[in-house]
Amino acid sequence: MISGGKMKNKIADIIIKLCGESEGNLHDINHFLKVYAFAKCIGEKEGLDELNQCVLEVAAIVHDIACPLCRKKYGSTEGSLQEKEGAALTEEFLSGFDPPRDFVERVKWLVAHHHTYSDVEQIEHRILLEADFLVNAEENRYSPEQIEAAKRSFFRTETGLGLLDSIYLREG
Ligand SMILES: [Fe+2]
Repeated sequence: MISGGKMKNKIADIIIKLCGESEGNLHDINHFLKVYAFAKCIGEKEGLDELNQCVLEVAAIVHDIACPLCRKKYGSTEGSLQEKEGAALTEEFLSGFDPPRDFVERVKWLVAHHHTYSDVEQIEHRILLEADFLVNAEENRYSPEQIEAAKRSFFRTETGLGLLDSIYLREG
């Protein structure tokens, strides 16, 4: 059984490293910082334990790590391409932080499934999908109909649903 404590203390350095590797791409940097903030908030409110919370937070930071490679290699950041490339890049990126093996495997799995909306079983997976959508809805200017559809299809946590309603589905 590993605890989240060891990696929790490295989150600031993980953020700083990813900022440094983002080649000044403020869209990418702003995006992961926002997804991290929502994931942290939802995870805390939903009562995740320290280890699961830490896995979620690190996955939220690195979830789009394959975007720059996918832009260069495929000319596209389509979800399935990111899922294909993301695990190896996550492994390499996190190796300098001396993470426990189980921890890396769990983060890699989440990165490799952050565009997978069916058969969601893990709460960390659910929260990552919700946090990413809360950010993408604004960045991609989703319509009210698209937001309602996401709400029905994969938003499940009370905190995520509350945020979606209060930000995007306001009455009047
Ligand atoms: Fe994202």
